[in-house]
Amino acid sequence: MTSETLIKINNVYKSYSGGFEALKGVNLEIKRGEILALLGPNGAGKTTLINAICGVVIPSSGNISVDGHDVVKDFRHTRSLIGLVPQELQLEAFEQVFQNVSYTRGLYGKKKNPALIEQILKDLSLWDKKDNRLRELSGGMKRRALIAKALSHEPQILFLDEPTAGVDISLRRDMWRVVKNLQDSGVTIILTTHYIEEAEAIADRVSVINNGEIVITENKRDLMQKMGQKLLTIELQDKISVIPESLKNYNLSITENGHALCFSYNSQAETTGITKLLQDVKLAGLKLKDLKSAQTSLENIFEQLLKESA
Ligand SMILES: Nc1ncnc2c1ncn2[C@@H]1O[C@H](COP(=O)(O)OP(=O)(O)OP(=O)(O)O)[C@@H](O)[C@H]1O
Ligand SMILES: [Mg+2]
Repeated sequence: MTSETLIKINNVYKSYSGGFEALKGVNLEIKRGEILALLGPNGAGKTTLINAICGVVIPSSGNISVDGHDVVKDFRHTRSLIGLVPQELQLEAFEQVFQNVSYTRGLYGKKKNPALIEQILKDLSLWDKKDNRLRELSGGMKRRALIAKALSHEPQILFLDEPTAGVDISLRRDMWRVVKNLQDSGVTIILTTHYIEEAEAIADRVSVINNGEIVITENKRDLMQKMGQKLLTIELQDKISVIPESLKNYNLSITENGHALCFSYNSQAETTGITKLLQDVKLAGLKLKDLKSAQTSLENIFEQLLKESA
């Protein structure tokens, strides 16, 4: 992966015709070859942003360039570089899988390439359904057919808007593998998802959007390291209602039932302070029953970011 910027989103606002402001000054740079996950609650503006990059939604102000070309002025060129798997399933129900995917390639002015279409369908485990009509596919298969269509014209950039919604876990893993392989072949991928573990599994960077604004864009590992906290639960033999004075300097809280103390700490820090804390707990006269520790996931971090930006 290079650090070359492929897509540049510059101060983009979007108000829909009813007056609703779906994007409020979005700035974002997407690098060539990366997998970027766009995370955010329902209505955050993810689809609007993706559609704006694809030139399907026209920003009210600001601009977007793909590979140095403005997506509005140079729509035909930028759109030809992009494969889009839309969130909504729209398929020509009566057409057969192979035929439909080949046809889509033709729409982009590309020469017929049955061998390529075969490869794509095989990669997506759709080959045995190639002669079936689209309406005869299951929901997850339909979504894969949409991906096949988006890949049919060999795009450099692939947008996947909720690619695995309604897809079972084993298929989801297959899709992750397909996405990773595409990245290896040089494709830049932007995906939205409500499955945080999906972003955790495949994204290089994560961008969180809320109420039409980007809350944070960060390398996934850095984000998890920076915000990743560990939580130590110290279960006590006896119930307590207040934290003893001698433990006030620790960042502790009492669980609702009063039977445990919770200590959150940065697991990346050189000294976590746990040894000293446990000594002080003992000195305070509290009797230990058990210790439990848990690592915050990207999911916890995501929730925290949304809370902070509300
Ligand atoms: N065509 C439209 N006209 C008016 N408002 C719209 C239109 N499309 C989207 N919106 C509004 O813009 C906001 C952002 O919608 P968008 O589809 O971008 O959200 P999203 O982040 O993709 O959500 P989800 O996770 O549910 O897919 C929502 O409040 C939505 O109601
Ligand atoms: Mg959406």
